[in-house]
Amino acid sequence: MMDQLNRPLRDLRISLTDRCNFRCVYCMPKEIFGSPTHFMPSEDTMTVDEILTVVRALAPIGVHKVRLTGGEPLLRRDIAPLIEGLTHIAGIDDVALTTNGSLLSRERAQALREAGLSRITVSLDSLDSGRFGRINGVGFGADRVLRAIDHADEAGLRPIKINVVVKRGMNDEDVVPLAQHFRFSGHIVRFIEYMDVGNSNGWTRQEVVPAQEILERISRQWPLHAIDRAYYGEVATRYAYDDGGGEIGIIASVSQPFCRTCTRARLAADGRLFLCLYANHGLSLRDILRQGGTEADIRNAVAGLWHHRSDRYSELRGRGDRRSPHLEMFQMGG
Ligand code: GTP
Ligand code: 5AD
Ligand code: SF4
Ligand code: SF4
Repeated sequence: MMDQLNRPLRDLRISLTDRCNFRCVYCMPKEIFGSPTHFMPSEDTMTVDEILTVVRALAPIGVHKVRLTGGEPLLRRDIAPLIEGLTHIAGIDDVALTTNGSLLSRERAQALREAGLSRITVSLDSLDSGRFGRINGVGFGADRVLRAIDHADEAGLRPIKINVVVKRGMNDEDVVPLAQHFRFSGHIVRFIEYMDVGNSNGWTRQEVVPAQEILERISRQWPLHAIDRAYYGEVATRYAYDDGGGEIGIIASVSQPFCRTCTRARLAADGRLFLCLYANHGLSLRDILRQGGTEADIRNAVAGLWHHRSDRYSELRGRGDRRSPHLEMFQMGG
């Protein structure tokens, strides 16, 4: 099943909630998202059964990888049964989770592993607790996220990826220390160009630290060489340290867009399906289900949408196209 640019549907990113206990400056700035009124009522969010029905509907048309995101997905208490259900769906061979790590105790990490979670990605933008606290907006210490990473490691949720959004003037000086910290750890740090996603972070192009600059900063200290992508459509470009210190990734969605191989659909916490991070219309699969629709109805609806898909926002941005209002990343799934 291919879209208008010959791209198959392979990954489904599912936002489990639009809520988060952090207020990262690049995602949910606290000046704008201070009060809970911005978030959806809990009856609007997809239930575990509804999510499982959607995934069962989409596995036969190509989805094999599911990533659970948010908001902060670990705010959902029912995440373990969801993971367990997902691992039993024929065709689903990778169930991953992106989290800020704040709620990842040793017991929680173990429970996620036992439920069948394949691997985990933890966000950490600085090792300096003062700076990290200002970035996450709630004063959460970097040492506590490092502990969460250890818990995930002990539970066997490997390989662990560490996501670092790099924004000029925010944490560009953290790039080299973060790379250093995770060299020889077996974990993979991925540096992400700051994106203009959502409508609230006040993005400017000057604040993007391009992939090339990130790469130069690190390879000046420890030489790196490019390595092959792990799978078709991988968003990160991979590099390995010449001295065997492991690998890093760079996600250059602004300076080197990867729309041509974008195989992702996103399910927002309220059940709307979006075909691009920057799309401003989504089809409510929740409404289809709550009006009595079946798995087959969902499959047909999504197959029809995918067939017409031609989204490639990040490519068009480079040509100066203005974005139109679209959902925040925490609503659509980060
Ligand atoms: P792996 O499955 O381990 O390869 O991870 P992933 O590529 O799914 O990575 P992850 O979910 O950690 O995504 C990392 C970041 O890349 C996201 O938080 C976004 O900032 C960015 N990103 C991921 N997918 C897209 C996409 O489709 N478009 C754009 N513009 N950015 C994306
Ligand atoms: N630019 C790039 N990545 C972002 N994320 C959230 N907002 C942005 C942004 N403006 C990503 C980060 C984080 C994940 C949950 O969402 O990678 O790790
Ligand atoms: Fe929360 Fe993640 Fe957004 Fe930070 S980036 S506010 S941790 S959803
Ligand atoms: Fe895919 Fe849209 Fe991101 Fe391009 S901008 S990679 S089409 S989600």
